[in-house]
Amino acid sequence: MKVLVVGGGGREHALVWKLRQSPRVTEVYCAPGNAGIAREATCVNISPEDIPSLMAFAREKAINLTVVGPEAPLAAGIVDEFQSAGLKIFGPSRAAAEVEGSKVFSKEIMAKYGIPTAGYAVFTDSAEASAYIQKTGVPCVLKADGLAAGKGVIIANDMETALDAVRSIMVDRDFGEAGARLVVEECLTGEEVSILAFTDGDTVVPMVSSQDHKRALDNDEGPNTGGMGAYAPVPVYTPEVARRAMEEILIPMVRALKAEGRTYRGVIYAGLMVAGGEPKVLEFNVRFGDPEAQPVLSLLETDLVDIIEAVLENRLDRIEIKWKPQASICVVLASGGYPAAYRKGKVIYGLGEEPEDIMVFHAGTAEKDGKVVTSGGRVLGVTATGPDISEAIDKAYAAVGKIKFDGMHYRRDIGRKALDRVQ
Ligand code: AMP
Ligand code: GLY
Repeated sequence: MKVLVVGGGGREHALVWKLRQSPRVTEVYCAPGNAGIAREATCVNISPEDIPSLMAFAREKAINLTVVGPEAPLAAGIVDEFQSAGLKIFGPSRAAAEVEGSKVFSKEIMAKYGIPTAGYAVFTDSAEASAYIQKTGVPCVLKADGLAAGKGVIIANDMETALDAVRSIMVDRDFGEAGARLVVEECLTGEEVSILAFTDGDTVVPMVSSQDHKRALDNDEGPNTGGMGAYAPVPVYTPEVARRAMEEILIPMVRALKAEGRTYRGVIYAGLMVAGGEPKVLEFNVRFGDPEAQPVLSLLETDLVDIIEAVLENRLDRIEIKWKPQASICVVLASGGYPAAYRKGKVIYGLGEEPEDIMVFHAGTAEKDGKVVTSGGRVLGVTATGPDISEAIDKAYAAVGKIKFDGMHYRRDIGRKALDRVQ
């Protein structure tokens, strides 16, 4: 079987790594991939958003299965287009992907079906939005309606930040058309958990729970990033919280989408805030999380191709999905300056020396003159698995210590919340 993975970050490296372990897979291609993926797959220089070229490539190479990493091509309808051309592809349709593509749609469907989430209001007029915030006060959370590469969410703890955010999103259109509508939300507190689940539109099978670390600096300080690290499983996600999340959130959401004529097939990601044992939705995503995919896929025992086929053939209820009873963590090594402006092209030293049970997933890397260099904000995801979170943390940081590049920075406290809870 020939597989094409769409995307070129750490999540896609983890997908390529896992798919390659399937005895059924003979060849893996990745568009566009990166320097690390290039060691395990054939990289092709096609943008994930160039759907016509991806389709032409899939036809030319007689690809048997395409797996989509990022949200943008899903929101643009890559699944619908591949399917109408008779090409097999894993991910939600454009209509289903709207749960991530439009925050307004996502809030409205949750409200309609009684799925617990933060209270909210929607605005198309900036003066009305500002007046509302001045009346209801801070803290509040402001979200551009459309996709904004993870940057369209602003948590405002003071009025000036809130009003500046309204202007940036709605007037200056810093996120383009994504800012035509604005969602103003109640600010939730608690501990965040990411629940990724496989679904064929009827059956929902959750993966192991994971936790991202969104802020750039230790102790959740500094600006928001795409994610500085993740671990799995998450102690705060107890069996009782898990039961509630399935019964109150994931299963009702998948049913709601079906009832609305938007049957969801693929990976659905619920970003939850857990407080006092009660889960509430922060957001839905329509794909694996990055960096959550790195530890989560490291713990997956079952062949991913078998799961994907069960989803596509609507028989997810008939397959057993197994997880290693272990813990896994991913520490992201980022470029100096990230998430603000950063430089590229720094030579990375110390790669290839890690022990067998450590995976260094590449995110923003490229090859230049035979050397691996930085080419993005998040550069590498050093991922280790161990019998418990404490050993996984020690192994990952020991491996991190061997890697160097100019300006490299990373958080030193990935997984600490889990460690504090289990101790
Ligand atoms: P994103 O993944 O870019 O949509 O970022 C959303 C992030 O913003 C979440 O992971 C939370 O950290 C934060 N967030 C979103 N909505 C809320 C909310 N209602 N209350 C508190 N934090 C929020
Ligand atoms: N790690 C957050 C995301 O993938 O959206």
